[in-house]
Amino acid sequence: MEIAFLLNGETVNVPVPDPTVTLLDWLREERGLTGTKEGCNEGDCGACTVMVTDEQGARALNACILFLPQLQGKAVRTVEGIAGPGGSLHPVQEAMVDHHGSQCGFCTPGFVVSMAVGHLNGRRDHDDVLAGNLCRCTGYAPIVRAAEAAAEAPVPDWMQDRQPPHAAANGDPALPESADELAAWYAAHPEATLVAGATDVGLWVTKQMRDLGEVCFLNRCADLRGIEAQAGWLRVGAMTNMVEVHEAVRDRLPSYAELIRRYGSEQVRQAATIGGNIANGSPIGDNPPPLIALGAVLHLRKGDARRDLPLEDFFLDYGKQDRGPGEFVEAVSFPAEAPDLRCYKLSKRFDQDISAVCGAFNLTVRDGVVAEARIAFGGMAGIPKRAVAVEAALKGRPFDAAAVDAALPAFAEDFAPLTDMRASAEYRLTTAQNMLRRYHAERTGAAVDVLEVGP
Ligand SMILES: Cc1cc2nc3c(=O)[nH]c(=O)nc-3n(C[C@H](O)[C@H](O)[C@H](O)COP(=O)(O)OP(=O)(O)OC[C@H]3O[C@@H](n4cnc5c(N)ncnc54)[C@H](O)[C@@H]3O)c2cc1C
Ligand code: FES
Ligand code: FES
Repeated sequence: MEIAFLLNGETVNVPVPDPTVTLLDWLREERGLTGTKEGCNEGDCGACTVMVTDEQGARALNACILFLPQLQGKAVRTVEGIAGPGGSLHPVQEAMVDHHGSQCGFCTPGFVVSMAVGHLNGRRDHDDVLAGNLCRCTGYAPIVRAAEAAAEAPVPDWMQDRQPPHAAANGDPALPESADELAAWYAAHPEATLVAGATDVGLWVTKQMRDLGEVCFLNRCADLRGIEAQAGWLRVGAMTNMVEVHEAVRDRLPSYAELIRRYGSEQVRQAATIGGNIANGSPIGDNPPPLIALGAVLHLRKGDARRDLPLEDFFLDYGKQDRGPGEFVEAVSFPAEAPDLRCYKLSKRFDQDISAVCGAFNLTVRDGVVAEARIAFGGMAGIPKRAVAVEAALKGRPFDAAAVDAALPAFAEDFAPLTDMRASAEYRLTTAQNMLRRYHAERTGAAVDVLEVGP
């Protein structure tokens, strides 16, 4: 395979003998661009942050879990390309100097790139923009001050990457241009590994040193990306990333949106797709609980054959999903509004962490009585799972504290959670029960926002 993209404003044509070479390794080892640092090599620290521009605009991504073929037709800007051609500093770099935003400096290139992308996009939510960049010596206050100080400065000319000249298809079947091309190719190569955002698959390579065999990159299938609103439902293409899902649900499903705001980091959300988060079958993926609580429908495709199934039926057992060889996730649909939906994520850190327990509650109360109940959890079983016994215990009862208390023992019927490094079984069961209490408190007007400090 050969790909072409813009690197710091210059076209590069790159033969790719191994499609699972990461951008980080290539930049450092083949191009000598060692400003982009390797910290964790698993998407957690942001030391390797680069700016990637395509038709969707500019975004910050982690180069350590980006495979080279994912860059076909895009523009990449590393920290070496953030300063001006004559070496003049970018406003965020000047502000980092002025506000003492760097000590040992190892994290600084990653911060500078994230800040420069935030600056380019007019972002003012600096804490969210920078939550994926870790610094162990300076502390975040000077860095956030620098981001604030640079915010009003004009965007330098050199940051406007033009439309890459090689955005066209390169004809490689491993880089299909549409769902039809993917469907035909995958049906004939069912053993291949599909790569969507690579926020899971990247780690199989960098951490598990796995040989993926034949791979197919989905990121050029434009018709797998995007959100359609139809008759009160949203149909979200499998390749829609978590930033795009967040935008679509921010006003309609605010509790789901808040959950997504805490999903990984800016760099992870810009890469991770909703299809990948469902297809990987993880018991701790953050999308399945709210989607199951919403009654989402999964759209699967193999060749020209399509089938739909309730999302909860997709997850069969740990590591086992109802997806045949050569079949892929095309989209997921769910109600566009659900005023009663609430999502609660428990993790060891507030930002940039995987859930220990994630609960989603969607109860319809009519005349004071629970008429419909959909409750789903991640982190409580080997799969994302509905709490059917808890739902049954609540349905038909007045929605009061006594009904909540009476439903608590049903959690042990639905779930026998594991003890692992994130949480003990006992902690999981207790906190899941407490989430139901919290849901009741929230629905009955109590203040439950963990970000608010009460009297
Ligand atoms: C630093 C970090 C933080 C993270 N934080 C969170 C978090 O807070 N919450 C959370 O839920 N997850 C988190 N994750 C996990 C990860 O981001 C998600 O699981 C992600 O959604 C996977 O999507 P992807 O597009 O990157 O998938 P990929 O890694 O490309 O693929 C994942 C799997 O799905 C398959 N696949 C992808 N697309 C399709 C498709 N359309 N049809 C069939 N199969 C497909 C792939 O073959 C692979 O098996 C984090 C990951 C990292 C690295
Ligand atoms: S090296 Fe840590 S996110 Fe890439
Ligand atoms: S300045 Fe040392 S890690 Fe941030």
